[in-house]
Amino acid sequence: GLPARVTVHEVGPRDGLQNEAAIVPVEVKAEFVARLARAGLTRIETTSFVHPKWVPQLADAAELLDLVEPVPGVRYPVLVPNERGLDRALERGVTEIAIFGSATETFARRNLNQGVESQFDMFAPVVGRALDHGLRVRAYLSMCFGDPWEGAVPVPQVVRAGMRLLDLGCFELSLGDTIGVGTPGHVAALLDAFAAAGAGPERLAVHFHDTYGQALANTLTALTKGVTVVDASAGGLGGCPYAESATGNLATEDLVWMLDGLGVETGVDLPSLVETSVWLAGRLGRPSVSRVVQALGSG
Ligand code: HMG
Ligand code: MG
Repeated sequence: GLPARVTVHEVGPRDGLQNEAAIVPVEVKAEFVARLARAGLTRIETTSFVHPKWVPQLADAAELLDLVEPVPGVRYPVLVPNERGLDRALERGVTEIAIFGSATETFARRNLNQGVESQFDMFAPVVGRALDHGLRVRAYLSMCFGDPWEGAVPVPQVVRAGMRLLDLGCFELSLGDTIGVGTPGHVAALLDAFAAAGAGPERLAVHFHDTYGQALANTLTALTKGVTVVDASAGGLGGCPYAESATGNLATEDLVWMLDGLGVETGVDLPSLVETSVWLAGRLGRPSVSRVVQALGSG
Protein backbone atom coordinates (compact mmCIF):
# COMPACT_ATOMS: atom_id res chain seq x y z
CA GLY A 1 0.00 0.00 0.00
CA LEU A 2 0.86 3.68 -0.02
CA PRO A 3 1.31 6.04 2.95
CA ALA A 4 -1.62 8.36 3.71
CA ARG A 5 0.72 11.33 3.96
CA VAL A 6 4.11 12.24 2.48
CA THR A 7 6.44 14.99 3.65
CA VAL A 8 8.11 16.85 0.83
CA HIS A 9 11.66 17.93 1.64
CA GLU A 10 12.04 20.91 -0.72
CA VAL A 11 15.62 21.39 -1.96
CA GLY A 12 15.10 24.06 -4.64
CA PRO A 13 16.87 26.95 -2.90
CA ARG A 14 19.90 24.72 -2.12
CA ASP A 15 20.27 21.91 -4.70
CA GLY A 16 18.46 24.01 -7.31
CA LEU A 17 20.30 27.28 -6.98
CA GLN A 18 23.75 25.77 -6.26
CA ASN A 19 23.77 24.63 -9.87
CA GLU A 20 22.72 27.86 -11.60
CA ALA A 21 25.35 29.33 -13.91
CA ALA A 22 24.41 32.87 -12.88
CA ILE A 23 24.44 34.12 -9.31
CA VAL A 24 20.85 34.70 -8.21
CA PRO A 25 20.37 37.91 -6.17
CA VAL A 26 19.89 37.22 -2.47
CA GLU A 27 16.53 39.07 -2.44
CA VAL A 28 15.22 36.72 -5.15
CA LYS A 29 16.35 33.73 -3.09
CA ALA A 30 14.60 35.09 0.00
CA GLU A 31 11.38 35.62 -1.95
CA PHE A 32 11.67 32.08 -3.38
CA VAL A 33 11.93 30.64 0.14
CA ALA A 34 8.98 32.75 1.36
CA ARG A 35 6.82 31.66 -1.58
CA LEU A 36 7.66 27.99 -0.97
CA ALA A 37 6.48 28.33 2.63
CA ARG A 38 3.28 30.02 1.45
CA ALA A 39 2.71 27.10 -0.95
CA GLY A 40 2.63 24.80 2.08
CA LEU A 41 6.12 23.30 2.10
CA THR A 42 7.24 22.60 5.66
CA ARG A 43 10.85 21.61 5.05
CA ILE A 44 12.76 24.07 2.90
CA GLU A 45 16.48 23.39 2.51
CA THR A 46 17.59 26.97 2.27
CA THR A 47 21.33 27.14 1.57
CA SER A 48 24.75 25.64 2.37
CA PHE A 49 27.58 26.66 4.67
CA VAL A 50 30.19 25.15 2.38
CA HIS A 51 33.38 26.78 1.16
CA PRO A 52 32.32 29.87 -0.81
CA LYS A 53 34.95 29.16 -3.45
CA TRP A 54 33.63 25.63 -3.95
CA VAL A 55 30.04 26.82 -4.41
CA PRO A 56 30.03 30.57 -5.13
CA GLN A 57 26.29 30.42 -5.88
CA LEU A 58 25.59 29.95 -2.15
CA ALA A 59 28.30 32.24 -0.75
CA ASP A 60 25.52 34.53 0.51
CA ALA A 61 24.21 31.91 2.97
CA ALA A 62 24.44 34.10 6.08
CA GLU A 63 22.91 37.11 4.34
CA LEU A 64 20.06 34.97 3.01
CA LEU A 65 19.20 33.57 6.43
CA ASP A 66 18.99 37.14 7.74
CA LEU A 67 16.35 37.85 5.09
CA VAL A 68 14.25 34.72 5.68
CA GLU A 69 11.24 35.39 7.94
CA PRO A 70 10.67 32.05 9.65
CA VAL A 71 7.10 30.80 9.31
CA PRO A 72 5.86 28.78 12.31
CA GLY A 73 5.82 25.06 11.51
CA VAL A 74 8.37 25.41 8.70
CA ARG A 75 11.90 24.05 9.04
CA TYR A 76 14.82 25.65 7.19
CA PRO A 77 17.71 23.14 7.15
CA VAL A 78 21.11 24.04 5.66
CA LEU A 79 23.99 21.89 4.43
CA VAL A 80 27.09 21.78 6.63
CA PRO A 81 30.15 19.70 5.65
CA ASN A 82 32.59 20.45 8.46
CA GLU A 83 33.12 22.27 11.76
CA ARG A 84 33.87 25.59 10.06
CA GLY A 85 30.48 25.30 8.35
CA LEU A 86 28.83 24.41 11.64
CA ASP A 87 30.32 27.47 13.33
CA ARG A 88 28.92 29.67 10.56
CA ALA A 89 25.49 28.00 10.85
CA LEU A 90 25.39 28.31 14.65
CA GLU A 91 26.26 32.01 14.39
CA ARG A 92 23.09 32.44 12.36
CA GLY A 93 20.92 30.49 14.81
CA VAL A 94 20.22 27.58 12.50
CA THR A 95 18.24 24.74 14.16
CA GLU A 96 18.61 22.00 11.55
CA ILE A 97 21.59 20.98 9.43
CA ALA A 98 22.42 18.24 6.96
CA ILE A 99 25.77 16.57 6.48
CA PHE A 100 26.42 15.03 3.07
CA GLY A 101 28.58 11.97 2.50
CA SER A 102 29.49 9.89 -0.51
CA ALA A 103 29.18 6.16 -1.10
CA THR A 104 32.07 6.28 -3.58
CA GLU A 105 35.71 7.23 -3.20
CA THR A 106 35.91 9.35 -6.36
CA PHE A 107 32.96 11.55 -5.48
CA ALA A 108 34.06 11.90 -1.85
CA ARG A 109 37.34 13.33 -3.12
CA ARG A 110 35.79 15.55 -5.75
CA ASN A 111 32.96 16.90 -3.62
CA LEU A 112 34.49 17.01 -0.14
CA ASN A 113 38.25 16.73 -0.66
CA GLN A 114 38.09 13.65 1.61
CA GLY A 115 38.09 9.89 1.17
CA VAL A 116 35.11 7.68 2.02
CA GLU A 117 36.79 6.78 5.31
CA SER A 118 38.06 10.22 6.28
CA GLN A 119 34.68 11.87 5.55
CA PHE A 120 33.34 10.21 8.72
CA ASP A 121 36.15 11.80 10.75
CA MET A 122 35.09 15.16 9.35
CA PHE A 123 31.39 14.57 10.10
CA ALA A 124 31.65 13.02 13.58
CA PRO A 125 32.50 16.24 15.49
CA VAL A 126 29.99 18.19 13.39
CA VAL A 127 27.14 15.88 14.37
CA GLY A 128 28.33 15.60 17.98
CA ARG A 129 28.51 19.35 18.49
CA ALA A 130 25.28 19.98 16.60
CA LEU A 131 23.38 17.49 18.78
CA ASP A 132 24.89 19.13 21.89
CA HIS A 133 23.41 22.41 20.66
CA GLY A 134 20.00 20.76 20.24
CA LEU A 135 20.05 20.83 16.45
CA ARG A 136 18.42 18.24 14.22
CA VAL A 137 20.92 16.58 11.89
CA ARG A 138 19.95 14.96 8.62
CA ALA A 139 22.39 12.95 6.52
CA TYR A 140 22.67 12.64 2.78
CA LEU A 141 24.45 9.88 0.98
CA SER A 142 25.39 10.57 -2.64
CA MET A 143 26.05 8.10 -5.46
CA CYS A 144 23.72 5.45 -4.02
CA PHE A 145 23.00 3.95 -7.45
CA GLY A 146 25.67 4.91 -9.95
CA ASP A 147 28.74 7.10 -10.07
CA PRO A 148 29.99 8.83 -13.24
CA TRP A 149 33.55 7.64 -12.66
CA GLU A 150 33.03 4.28 -10.92
CA GLY A 151 29.88 3.01 -12.64
CA ALA A 152 27.21 1.01 -10.82
CA VAL A 153 27.66 1.19 -7.03
CA PRO A 154 27.22 -2.12 -5.16
CA VAL A 155 24.30 -2.15 -2.72
CA PRO A 156 26.38 -3.42 0.27
CA GLN A 157 28.85 -0.55 -0.20
CA VAL A 158 25.98 1.95 -0.06
CA VAL A 159 24.42 0.33 3.01
CA ARG A 160 27.76 0.32 4.86
CA ALA A 161 28.31 4.03 4.28
CA GLY A 162 24.68 4.91 5.03
CA MET A 163 24.64 3.04 8.33
CA ARG A 164 27.80 4.86 9.40
CA LEU A 165 26.06 8.20 8.82
CA LEU A 166 22.93 7.14 10.74
CA ASP A 167 25.07 5.77 13.56
CA LEU A 168 26.63 9.22 14.06
CA GLY A 169 23.21 10.28 15.39
CA CYS A 170 21.40 11.60 12.31
CA PHE A 171 17.60 11.39 12.50
CA GLU A 172 17.19 10.59 8.81
CA LEU A 173 19.26 9.40 5.87
CA SER A 174 18.42 10.68 2.41
CA LEU A 175 19.51 8.30 -0.33
CA GLY A 176 20.83 10.31 -3.26
CA ASP A 177 20.69 9.25 -6.87
CA THR A 178 23.02 12.12 -7.67
CA ILE A 179 23.17 11.47 -11.43
CA GLY A 180 19.69 10.01 -11.87
CA VAL A 181 20.63 6.57 -13.22
CA GLY A 182 18.63 4.43 -10.75
CA THR A 183 15.62 2.36 -11.75
CA PRO A 184 12.75 0.98 -9.60
CA GLY A 185 14.13 -2.54 -9.10
CA HIS A 186 17.40 -1.08 -7.83
CA VAL A 187 15.50 1.23 -5.47
CA ALA A 188 13.53 -1.71 -4.04
CA ALA A 189 16.70 -3.77 -3.57
CA LEU A 190 18.50 -0.90 -1.81
CA LEU A 191 15.60 -0.21 0.57
CA ASP A 192 15.31 -3.93 1.38
CA ALA A 193 19.04 -4.06 2.13
CA PHE A 194 18.80 -1.06 4.46
CA ALA A 195 15.84 -2.64 6.26
CA ALA A 196 17.83 -5.86 6.68
CA ALA A 197 20.71 -3.82 8.16
CA GLY A 198 18.36 -2.21 10.70
CA ALA A 199 17.37 1.03 8.96
CA GLY A 200 13.70 0.76 8.03
CA PRO A 201 11.84 3.20 5.77
CA GLU A 202 10.88 5.44 8.73
CA ARG A 203 14.54 6.53 8.95
CA LEU A 204 15.04 6.98 5.20
CA ALA A 205 14.24 9.61 2.60
CA VAL A 206 14.80 9.47 -1.16
CA HIS A 207 16.54 12.08 -3.29
CA PHE A 208 16.22 11.42 -7.00
CA HIS A 209 17.73 13.50 -9.76
CA ASP A 210 15.70 13.06 -12.94
CA THR A 211 18.47 12.81 -15.53
CA TYR A 212 17.07 9.61 -17.08
CA GLY A 213 13.39 10.36 -16.40
CA GLN A 214 13.13 7.73 -13.67
CA ALA A 215 12.62 9.92 -10.61
CA LEU A 216 8.84 9.60 -10.35
CA ALA A 217 8.82 5.83 -10.90
CA ASN A 218 11.62 5.46 -8.37
CA THR A 219 9.72 7.60 -5.87
CA LEU A 220 6.54 5.54 -6.24
CA THR A 221 8.59 2.39 -5.62
CA ALA A 222 10.05 3.92 -2.45
CA LEU A 223 6.54 4.85 -1.24
CA THR A 224 5.32 1.27 -1.69
CA LYS A 225 8.31 0.27 0.48
CA GLY A 226 7.10 2.58 3.25
CA VAL A 227 9.25 5.69 2.73
CA THR A 228 7.29 8.86 3.61
CA VAL A 229 9.86 11.64 3.08
CA VAL A 230 10.66 12.63 -0.50
CA ASP A 231 13.16 15.24 -1.64
CA ALA A 232 12.12 17.39 -4.59
CA SER A 233 12.96 20.72 -6.14
CA ALA A 234 10.46 23.34 -7.29
CA GLY A 235 10.46 23.57 -11.07
CA GLY A 236 12.92 20.65 -11.30
CA LEU A 237 15.98 22.83 -10.70
CA GLY A 238 19.15 21.26 -9.39
CA GLY A 239 22.30 19.28 -9.84
CA CYS A 240 25.64 19.03 -8.19
CA PRO A 241 28.46 21.02 -9.80
CA TYR A 242 30.93 18.31 -8.69
CA ALA A 243 28.95 15.40 -10.20
CA GLU A 244 29.42 15.12 -13.94
CA SER A 245 26.17 14.58 -15.87
CA ALA A 246 23.84 15.45 -13.00
CA THR A 247 20.69 17.32 -13.97
CA GLY A 248 17.77 18.61 -11.94
CA ASN A 249 15.95 16.95 -9.07
CA LEU A 250 12.53 15.43 -9.28
CA ALA A 251 10.28 18.47 -9.75
CA THR A 252 8.13 19.16 -6.69
CA GLU A 253 5.18 19.93 -8.97
CA ASP A 254 5.48 16.55 -10.73
CA LEU A 255 5.62 14.81 -7.35
CA VAL A 256 2.63 16.70 -5.93
CA TRP A 257 0.55 16.08 -9.08
CA MET A 258 1.13 12.34 -8.72
CA LEU A 259 0.43 12.32 -4.97
CA ASP A 260 -2.72 14.46 -5.36
CA GLY A 261 -3.93 11.94 -7.93
CA LEU A 262 -3.22 9.06 -5.58
CA GLY A 263 -5.00 10.78 -2.70
CA VAL A 264 -1.76 10.98 -0.70
CA GLU A 265 -1.72 14.14 1.42
CA THR A 266 1.23 16.58 1.19
CA GLY A 267 -0.21 19.88 2.41
CA VAL A 268 1.25 21.53 -0.71
CA ASP A 269 -0.93 23.81 -2.83
CA LEU A 270 -0.07 22.95 -6.43
CA PRO A 271 -1.32 26.13 -8.17
CA SER A 272 0.64 28.32 -5.78
CA LEU A 273 3.77 26.20 -6.27
CA VAL A 274 3.42 26.34 -10.06
CA GLU A 275 3.06 30.11 -9.86
CA THR A 276 6.28 30.23 -7.84
CA SER A 277 8.21 28.19 -10.39
CA VAL A 278 6.88 30.31 -13.27
CA TRP A 279 7.95 33.43 -11.37
CA LEU A 280 11.43 31.99 -10.68
CA ALA A 281 11.84 30.82 -14.29
CA GLY A 282 11.26 34.43 -15.30
CA ARG A 283 14.05 35.54 -12.95
CA LEU A 284 16.38 32.80 -14.24
CA GLY A 285 15.55 33.57 -17.86
CA ARG A 286 14.47 30.12 -19.00
CA PRO A 287 11.37 27.94 -18.68
CA SER A 288 11.02 25.28 -15.98
CA VAL A 289 11.84 21.73 -17.03
CA SER A 290 8.92 20.40 -14.95
CA ARG A 291 6.23 18.83 -17.14
CA VAL A 292 3.53 19.89 -14.68
CA VAL A 293 4.77 23.49 -14.62
CA GLN A 294 4.74 23.47 -18.44
CA ALA A 295 1.22 22.05 -18.50
CA LEU A 296 -0.31 24.28 -15.83
CA GLY A 297 1.89 27.35 -15.84
CA SER A 298 1.22 28.88 -19.25
CA GLY A 299 -1.74 31.02 -18.07
P1 HMG B 1 38.94 22.06 1.71
O1 HMG B 1 39.52 22.96 0.69
O2 HMG B 1 39.53 20.68 1.88
O3 HMG B 1 38.89 22.81 3.13
O4 HMG B 1 37.39 21.93 1.40
P2 HMG B 1 39.94 22.82 4.32
O5 HMG B 1 39.32 22.19 5.49
O6 HMG B 1 41.28 22.32 3.84
O7 HMG B 1 40.07 24.40 4.61
C1 HMG B 1 40.65 25.29 3.67
C2 HMG B 1 40.18 26.70 3.94
O8 HMG B 1 38.78 26.78 3.69
C3 HMG B 1 40.37 27.17 5.38
O9 HMG B 1 40.60 28.59 5.31
C4 HMG B 1 39.02 26.96 6.00
O10 HMG B 1 38.71 27.82 7.08
C5 HMG B 1 38.09 27.27 4.85
P3 HMG B 1 42.08 29.16 5.53
O11 HMG B 1 42.48 28.64 6.87
O12 HMG B 1 42.89 28.56 4.41
O13 HMG B 1 41.85 30.63 5.43
N1 HMG B 1 36.82 26.53 4.99
C6 HMG B 1 35.60 27.07 4.97
N2 HMG B 1 35.16 28.33 4.81
C7 HMG B 1 33.83 28.54 4.89
N3 HMG B 1 32.93 27.55 5.10
C8 HMG B 1 33.33 26.28 5.25
C9 HMG B 1 34.72 26.00 5.18
N4 HMG B 1 35.44 24.88 5.30
C10 HMG B 1 36.71 25.19 5.17
N5 HMG B 1 32.42 25.31 5.47
C11 HMG B 1 35.13 21.44 1.98
C12 HMG B 1 36.57 21.02 2.11
C13 HMG B 1 34.27 20.33 2.56
C14 HMG B 1 34.92 22.73 2.76
C15 HMG B 1 34.83 21.67 0.49
O14 HMG B 1 35.13 20.50 -0.21
C16 HMG B 1 33.38 22.03 0.22
O15 HMG B 1 32.93 23.12 0.55
N6 HMG B 1 32.61 21.11 -0.42
C17 HMG B 1 31.19 21.30 -0.66
C18 HMG B 1 30.82 20.92 -2.07
C19 HMG B 1 29.33 21.09 -2.24
O16 HMG B 1 28.70 21.93 -1.63
N7 HMG B 1 28.72 20.28 -3.13
C20 HMG B 1 27.31 20.34 -3.38
C21 HMG B 1 26.47 19.81 -2.27
S1 HMG B 1 26.39 18.03 -2.23
C22 HMG B 1 25.11 17.63 -3.34
O17 HMG B 1 24.64 18.46 -4.06
C23 HMG B 1 24.55 16.22 -3.32
C24 HMG B 1 23.17 16.13 -2.62
O18 HMG B 1 22.21 16.95 -3.27
C25 HMG B 1 22.68 14.67 -2.63
C26 HMG B 1 22.74 14.02 -4.00
O19 HMG B 1 22.18 14.57 -4.97
O20 HMG B 1 23.38 12.95 -4.06
C27 HMG B 1 23.27 16.58 -1.15
MG1 MG C 1 21.16 16.47 -5.06
